[in-house]
Amino acid sequence: MKLFITGISGLLGLNIALQARERFQVSGCYHAHPVRLDGVQSLGMDLATPGQWEAALRETQPDVVIHTAGLTSVEGCEADPVLAQRLNVGVAQDVATVAREVGVRLVHISTDHLFDGTRPWRTEADRPAPLNVYARTKWEAEQAVLEACPDALIIRTNFFGWGTPVRPSFSDWVLRGLEEGRELHMFLDVFFTPILINSLGELLLELVERGTAGVFHVAGGERLSKYEFGLKLAETFGYPSGRIRPSSVDEFPFKAQRPKDMSLRTDAVTRLLGRQMPLVSEGLARLRRLGEAGWPTAVGAALQGADTLKRRR
Ligand SMILES: NC(=O)c1ccc[n+]([C@@H]2O[C@H](COP(=O)([O-])OP(=O)(O)OC[C@H]3O[C@@H](n4cnc5c(N)ncnc54)[C@H](OP(=O)(O)O)[C@@H]3O)[C@@H](O)[C@H]2O)c1
Repeated sequence: MKLFITGISGLLGLNIALQARERFQVSGCYHAHPVRLDGVQSLGMDLATPGQWEAALRETQPDVVIHTAGLTSVEGCEADPVLAQRLNVGVAQDVATVAREVGVRLVHISTDHLFDGTRPWRTEADRPAPLNVYARTKWEAEQAVLEACPDALIIRTNFFGWGTPVRPSFSDWVLRGLEEGRELHMFLDVFFTPILINSLGELLLELVERGTAGVFHVAGGERLSKYEFGLKLAETFGYPSGRIRPSSVDEFPFKAQRPKDMSLRTDAVTRLLGRQMPLVSEGLARLRRLGEAGWPTAVGAALQGADTLKRRR
């Protein structure tokens, strides 16, 4: 099977490319950050420029597109709603429209950020109620994707893992702070169900191989606060946790309003695949093992010195 990953230079896209290249023929596109990965074809392009996406798809002829690209900074979306609309909704719609026309299957990556955060454990049947520009554009994107490409697989998630120098993950941020002995203020009143990016990648590829369509929550099996996540991360990596301070999201001067409970119920995917989603402690133990096995180095190296690749204009 041939996969094409949009956002191959991003946190999720690059990790999936590294995983998937063992079993699939992988290509993908980046925008500002060239990627060089053995066995993977990567193209530089602006997905928002008309015609470039269709040309890339016709050139690489994948069986499946995994669309991870977009404007993912919640504050960045709030600061530039026009760009957020173009990259998160307009591009997703184009990606889906051309995928349908060319006959390529589509996996669209969405988020746990869609709900208003007033209740835990949201299911796929709950209606989203976005609180900020990022969430609104991701919800609009889901609807545009399903309209253009009704057989698409939409995955709502939240992940941690080994990030890149360009795009550190949440767990990278915590680990860096612990390593430097900084005081970390982590939210006691924001809850989520995070999954290790490598576990998410495996589940996603399994769903792709089964030809699954529809909207699925693919997240961790455990709901916890960001503060508790920080404590567990410190414990797993053997750092003292004394410098992790509980705080409230209400104390931070964010421009975007944020949901306080983003936890996702994963019963549908659990039933479909016949197994439980991983617990945070399992994910963190695996994160540590991956770190010892050199995964972060492989992720970082893919984004360095890739200047020989030509950017399309
Ligand atoms: N991070 C999380 O915890 C999280 C949680 C829930 C859901 N998600 C969703 O998961 C997906 C991936 O997130 P991520 O954190 O991996 O994203 P990310 O690291 O911010 O990566 C975004 C990617 O989009 C590419 N891109 C941006 N503008 C582009 C353009 N005009 N043309 C082509 N490519 C463009 C970037 O390329 P360059 O870097 O080369 O410019 C980069 O590869 C997103 O759909 C996000 O909404 C993320």
